[in-house]
Amino acid sequence: MEEPIEVGHPLIDHHLQLLRDERTSPGDFRRSARLLATLLAFEATRDLETVETTVRTPLETTSGRRLAQRVGLVPVLRAGLLMVDPLLDLIPDAEVWHLGIFRDESTAQPVYYYDKVPTDRPVDVALVLDPMLATGGTVCVVVDRLRAWGVPRIEIVSLIAAPEGIAMVRRRHPDVRIRACAVDRHLDHRKYIVPGLGDAGDRGFNTQRDDR
Ligand code: URA
Repeated sequence: MEEPIEVGHPLIDHHLQLLRDERTSPGDFRRSARLLATLLAFEATRDLETVETTVRTPLETTSGRRLAQRVGLVPVLRAGLLMVDPLLDLIPDAEVWHLGIFRDESTAQPVYYYDKVPTDRPVDVALVLDPMLATGGTVCVVVDRLRAWGVPRIEIVSLIAAPEGIAMVRRRHPDVRIRACAVDRHLDHRKYIVPGLGDAGDRGFNTQRDDR
């Protein structure tokens, strides 16, 4: 059985409708995006392994558990950057690996313009931060790159996902889990998610231009 993608929660519903609202300011957009990333991370990190540890409180020594795995955050540039800080707040020792990719329209092949992902000592778990999982093309290239690095477990964390993108990920990477606040209807002719929220990078970084 395929796992559910949508992480349901009243707080997610609330901040998602703020994010969708075209009147939401860039500052409020970033704030809601950060809060949603935190709420999604709670679900996406549910299976992280922990080990027992001891800790000395002011009263006595007691036991606790700490994270045992190396976690890598891989933001899909540029909008994925909106989700990095909330994840780092939760997992301060996470490694952040940047990959810059665009599609060469003449060959339809992905072109890496920035790739700092190493070739050895892969992380145990990679969280790919892609706020808008639209066609799935870019995210699948990112997953290919992480697989080549040897990452055994990869999760995609998105604010909104389109059925087209989900289908591509499931076809090419059936073992990669996707977590999102919502699965929307479809992509339009420009490959924007409908109803979506527009261009997440432009809205979060206040680079919307009327002349585009
Ligand atoms: N990227 C976005 O920012 N928005 C979409 O709707 C699709 C891709």
